[in-house]
Amino acid sequence: MIKASAISHPNIAFSKYWGMANEKLTLPETDSISMTLSRIFTHTTVGFSNKYSQDEVEIRNESGLSGNVIHQVDQRVVKQLDRLRKLANTQKKAKVVSINNFPADAGIASSASAFSALTVAGVAALKLRMSKKELSILTRLAGSGSATRSIHGGFVLWKKGESSTESYATQIYGAKHWDLVDIILVVSATRKRKTSLQGHQLATSSPLRRNRIEATTKNNTRLLAALKNKDLKLLGNTIENEMFLLHAVAMSSAPPLLYWSGDTVEIIHEVWELRKRGVECYITLDAGPNPHIITTSKHAKEIESHFASWSMVKKRYICPVGRGAFLTDNHLF
Ligand code: DP6
Repeated sequence: MIKASAISHPNIAFSKYWGMANEKLTLPETDSISMTLSRIFTHTTVGFSNKYSQDEVEIRNESGLSGNVIHQVDQRVVKQLDRLRKLANTQKKAKVVSINNFPADAGIASSASAFSALTVAGVAALKLRMSKKELSILTRLAGSGSATRSIHGGFVLWKKGESSTESYATQIYGAKHWDLVDIILVVSATRKRKTSLQGHQLATSSPLRRNRIEATTKNNTRLLAALKNKDLKLLGNTIENEMFLLHAVAMSSAPPLLYWSGDTVEIIHEVWELRKRGVECYITLDAGPNPHIITTSKHAKEIESHFASWSMVKKRYICPVGRGAFLTDNHLF
């Protein structure tokens, strides 16, 4: 048995990947910029052995080893194992055990941390030598585009590229560059009704898609300037615009996709209210109802406590900037 384990964090997209230029290769239509988070993570162990007759994938729930065990073979996982086997020239089947310490599939990009952890662990288990660029490309090929950004820590740019070898993520600044914090308010921890994949596919049916591509391209230039100058106002206004652009495309797709709940809308208004009162914070959403409030460490505690009494907020995560996917000796089997 050869095995390795990795831990990877989700990332929050400041500018969004929404819509694919090439579905088979997971090539996006725009560049996207994100911040890798700390505190919430996926921990994955991958082992290859001749003793397995088929791939086994076990995804454990939030409560980890003592919790319920969900046996679920995701085809994207098996296909990624096939890519790894091809590169290592082996037929060995694999066992994969993975745990998240946060709710999966509810707009907290669990597949970003999941597919980056799987890829980093799988590459190490098979003793493949890869640069971060190669890891980022291989992770992207698994089909979760946002995962390609979680290979790096800090602030990350995923260049869309025109071909598979050109489409990968690079670090713009390390985690220490700016003390930004993402406060995630979980208003719903249930599985989303429509996956991001369906959203990407439907984006082409939206009459707003082309305008969004143009607007996102300009927003990326703004975000790079905001990150360079640590300009929270410019960063915040741009990420809110990106949120609305993504959701405008989703809502105007055919059929429409509405990821927001009433709670989401209330929190958007409350963030704007807080800002009027001088608390510098901004909001973004991925393909789910759970708000991500972006602020600096100065205001993080105050904002988190502000929402502590809101009954609609079931869980709160305060996530400063985190590191990229890394190997660990802590194996899950
Ligand atoms: C809205 O195809 O990467 O989060 O595989 O479900 O994580 P999952 O989604 P993916 O699409 C991400 C869409 C997004 C925006 C973003 O992260 O850029």
